[in-house]
Amino acid sequence: MTDAIVLDQVSKAYDGVAVLQPTDLVIPRGQFVALVGGSGAGKTTLLKTLNGLVTPTGGQVRIDGAPTADLDGPTLRRRIGYVFQEVGLFPHLTVGENIGVVPTLLGWDAAKITARTAELLDLVALPRELATRRPANLSGGQRQRVGVARALAARPSILLMDEPFGALDSVTRVALADDVRRLHDQLSLTTVMVTHDIAEAVLLADRIVVMAGGRVIADNTPRALLAGHADPAVEALMQAPRRQAARMREIAGE
Ligand SMILES: Nc1ncnc2c1ncn2[C@@H]1O[C@H](COP(=O)(O)OP(=O)(O)OP(=O)(O)O)[C@@H](O)[C@H]1O
Ligand SMILES: [Mg+2]
Repeated sequence: MTDAIVLDQVSKAYDGVAVLQPTDLVIPRGQFVALVGGSGAGKTTLLKTLNGLVTPTGGQVRIDGAPTADLDGPTLRRRIGYVFQEVGLFPHLTVGENIGVVPTLLGWDAAKITARTAELLDLVALPRELATRRPANLSGGQRQRVGVARALAARPSILLMDEPFGALDSVTRVALADDVRRLHDQLSLTTVMVTHDIAEAVLLADRIVVMAGGRVIADNTPRALLAGHADPAVEALMQAPRRQAARMREIAGE
């Protein structure tokens, strides 16, 4: 079977400064990948090369076997849903209109978009009445759910999420993360999610890719990475949730 996403020596430089070193990455269909690493590591840049929001300086991205350079914008938008870092809903549009952005671009008729919007609100567990509200009149968690609904509107096979649960309280965060994993399984998606939260990456993802300084420094299953890594930076990162859990047990007197 053709892999969902292939990066072949993909690099990016801005004004001659490399922010993404030549990177190879193969993501099979159906995999849930967490992309982790410090601020400025190149996570968003890598994610955006996948759907053409960033044009690589070198190398090639292939989606279902087709080089993205050969695919037009609408085709990429249809195949790949994108949830932006800091949500990125249009404030002047209603929730329904936000969810309908890609279908509108793709020329769907109004009735079809309205029906799909209702279906998507159900899918992300939001009341349908929210369709007529503006993003400013929602809670942060509800806004993130709208962002996910919008990304899924045109039934993409690939879902990219850039820190979709940042800035949420931990209860909302866990509920939303569980729902995203459920959607991934239910819709047979291939998912790449950027997160700062290692525990979240471990709990949700099939595979964790760690970046630093514009390159991939580790790439393995959560279990394998938790078992130890030669690179001290990776080791420190992966041990953080374990140290936290141990400390919690200690405080709880267990
Ligand atoms: N349009 C741009 N022009 C110039 N430099 C850029 C541009 N976009 C990103 N960079 C630089 O590329 C590097 C990687 O940025 P990127 O946004 O990919 O990091 P990140 O890993 O997503 O970080 P964060 O966790 O803070 O979101 C940073 O040094 C950033 O300043
Ligand atoms: Mg980023």
